[in-house]
Amino acid sequence: MSADSHTKSKALADRATAVIPGGVNSGTRRNGAPYAFESAAGAYITDFDGNRYLDYHAAFGAILLGHRHAVIEDAMAAAADTLDLSGYGVSEAEVKLAELIVEVLPSVEQTVILNSGSEAVAYAIRLARASTDRKYLVKFQGGFHGWSESVARNVISPKERAYGDDPVTAGILPDSWQSTLIAEFNDLESVKTLFEQYPEQIAAVIVEPIPHNVGALVPTKEFIEGLRTLTTEQGALLIFDEVITGFRHALGGYQQICAVTPDLTTFGKAMGNGYPVAGLGGKRELMQNFDAAGGKVALMGTFNGNATSCAAGIATITYLKDNPDFYTRTHALGERWRSGLRGILSELEITAEVVGFGGTFSTYFIDHRASGFKDLLENDVQAAIQFHRRMIDRGVLMLPLPLKRNHISGSHTAEDIDMSLNAAQDALQSMIDDDIVSRG
Ligand SMILES: Cc1ncc(COP(=O)(O)O)c(C=O)c1O
Repeated sequence: MSADSHTKSKALADRATAVIPGGVNSGTRRNGAPYAFESAAGAYITDFDGNRYLDYHAAFGAILLGHRHAVIEDAMAAAADTLDLSGYGVSEAEVKLAELIVEVLPSVEQTVILNSGSEAVAYAIRLARASTDRKYLVKFQGGFHGWSESVARNVISPKERAYGDDPVTAGILPDSWQSTLIAEFNDLESVKTLFEQYPEQIAAVIVEPIPHNVGALVPTKEFIEGLRTLTTEQGALLIFDEVITGFRHALGGYQQICAVTPDLTTFGKAMGNGYPVAGLGGKRELMQNFDAAGGKVALMGTFNGNATSCAAGIATITYLKDNPDFYTRTHALGERWRSGLRGILSELEITAEVVGFGGTFSTYFIDHRASGFKDLLENDVQAAIQFHRRMIDRGVLMLPLPLKRNHISGSHTAEDIDMSLNAAQDALQSMIDDDIVSRG
């Protein structure tokens, strides 16, 4: 795609820069062309110049069924026809959504409905600290849990700051981020060591059961089950951050797949298929610590449980309940991409690891299987960026940043995957021709 094909988008982006800092409303949205989007339907998204892309970025995974899916559009229209927001008491939609969440998420006995994953995590942390009366948290290097003060550290850290001091933003008091300790994913010993160093001071371990914010590291059975045993022994809570894995890999999230029961679970993104809805759920005795139930943790939010968010959540979860083949289909398409790309890489003699789970996939430009973040420090960042950049140029939207995952929605087809594999073959060949990767 030539620079000419982005003229209108670029002009809109320039207008944006005058009134929005950097021209975007979330930092990682500014990545060069395409600069602006106008419409989307099913598996495709169209930019402001009318260029159409097969969308695997899927709004960081918030699109699960496909863009503007009919069941969501109908639910939105119906919601707009009745109650918008009351700010007093509860609505039937809130109750229905909470009942569905409690029904499908194995560990959730009670839930609160919020608007973003970051809020859900912030509340989970407060609840954990308040109910254990302890200060510290443990998170894993590479795990991302939103923007709240305690967890905004050590995500995709550069080598020199990995496992050390690496807040993701200025403006957080060191006391906040330093109260979160850093362990290595798939390395139970690293968590045990922290419990030894901070006896009876760790309130919770928070984990993305599959750390999709660094692609897809899949937990070993020993690790994920070990986290459950260790936290229980130590009187700490286990928080599964299922903001990406929830509803995407199974109706009951990754906890259903690995059969581990966390104390608290956060979820959001795909649950509303593009509309802002999220939540925090868990054991009744913990959730009773919220103030409306007589506890000490304040729960607030003008827009919590608003009509359109609830309608989107109800419609998405109901669709998934009624169409269990959604998971077999998307998982099979994920496998079709992964095995296809492995074949292409081997034919071109390019060293890379194709990873993923279910309908998600990523490419690591490394020469061995990755189990934790330490393996990802070897990723060839330029190759990773160029691969996704060249896929965009061929009409396939993949975020051109290292370690980023891609998402297959219910609207992608086998033909879409095959088209993308053809584009990948061409993109990778062009990387060899331009000396970005070498053969052998
Ligand atoms: C695992 C995880 N937790 C929490 C969040 C924060 O969610 P939100 O962007 O809805 O605030 C994200 C966002 O990417 C996430 O990936």
